[in-house]
Amino acid sequence: MRCVVTGVAGFVGSHLCESLLSWGDEVVGIDCLTDYYDPRRKEQNLRGALEHDTFRWCRDDLLQAPLVDLFTGADVVFHLAGQPGVRPSWGRDFATYLSRNVLATQAVLEAARQAGLVKVVYASSSSVYGDAESYPTAETLRPQPVSPYGVTKLAGEHLCELYRVAFGVPTASLRLFTVYGPRQRPDMAFSRLVAAAVRGGVFELYGSGTQTRDFTFVADVVRALRDVARSGFTGVANIGGGSRTSMNEVLHLVAELAGPLEVRRLPAARGDVRDTAADTQVACRGFGYAPRVSLREGLASMVEAERATTGATSESLFRTGGRL
Ligand code: UGA
Repeated sequence: MRCVVTGVAGFVGSHLCESLLSWGDEVVGIDCLTDYYDPRRKEQNLRGALEHDTFRWCRDDLLQAPLVDLFTGADVVFHLAGQPGVRPSWGRDFATYLSRNVLATQAVLEAARQAGLVKVVYASSSSVYGDAESYPTAETLRPQPVSPYGVTKLAGEHLCELYRVAFGVPTASLRLFTVYGPRQRPDMAFSRLVAAAVRGGVFELYGSGTQTRDFTFVADVVRALRDVARSGFTGVANIGGGSRTSMNEVLHLVAELAGPLEVRRLPAARGDVRDTAADTQVACRGFGYAPRVSLREGLASMVEAERATTGATSESLFRTGGRL
């Protein structure tokens, strides 16, 4: 496939890009290296991709880049770029969320239309559900986001649906459920947790720890992204890890894998949903999705990566249980 990956230097984008290149696909990667976290970390994420001569790297903002030119001739655009972070999305920063999650998504869809109806796979989020009416949550339930971030991700999904219906741009939105693995964003729970356990720091837990998440290993997400691109599926599908685990259970698991852990308990964070759990039947029927990596295996690979002196990530799960 000839692929475009937006947000190519991010956590999921860089894993997706490396996997596509290793499978023989061509990739044009776009990223403007925002300073939400240290851009040097993102540059490091691209090291593997830059070794391939089938990778073309374009450092640009989606609202400025010549997207029609970049998309022309592509089989698929994986639109992963965006402003992440549930908890910081309140207040004055909302304009950034609007620009990077809504305006940028519209720019991508418009360019995909003009470039000849290129397929767009959009990285949506479980946060569109808010505190869902039932668990595991199916796509047919009414989304009710409880954070401004979730509102912008839902708006992006609606734009995808609109461009599909109005112009025939084939779009698929995957609602990703709390993705984790080596290179996870430094503001997310597991990367902080594993760093604290391995390096001996303190992990700050928001709330009672009874909140649950359907944590999804990044290799499972990468496989879902590629499989949906190669399928005829359009519409919305959940991508979950297959089990619902509380943060308290995660703390025990990390302590087992990496040694004792110091935890400071803080109040719950505004905008955090209480629970998530994905019903993945639509993804299973639509493009054969089933998660393969257990939470224990996935966390063990993060611990191993953190311990590696070079800072290089562990690839063991990608060779075995997490076959892509
Ligand atoms: C994550 C991503 O950050 C979002 O971009 C994504 O859209 C979302 O998943 C999703 O699936 O919709 P979140 O579930 O908040 O959001 O992921 P984590 O940062 O890993 O947090 C998991 C739980 O740990 C939350 O209850 C959070 O409050 C808690 N947490 C997080 C802590 O207790 N301490 C921390 O330092 C960070």
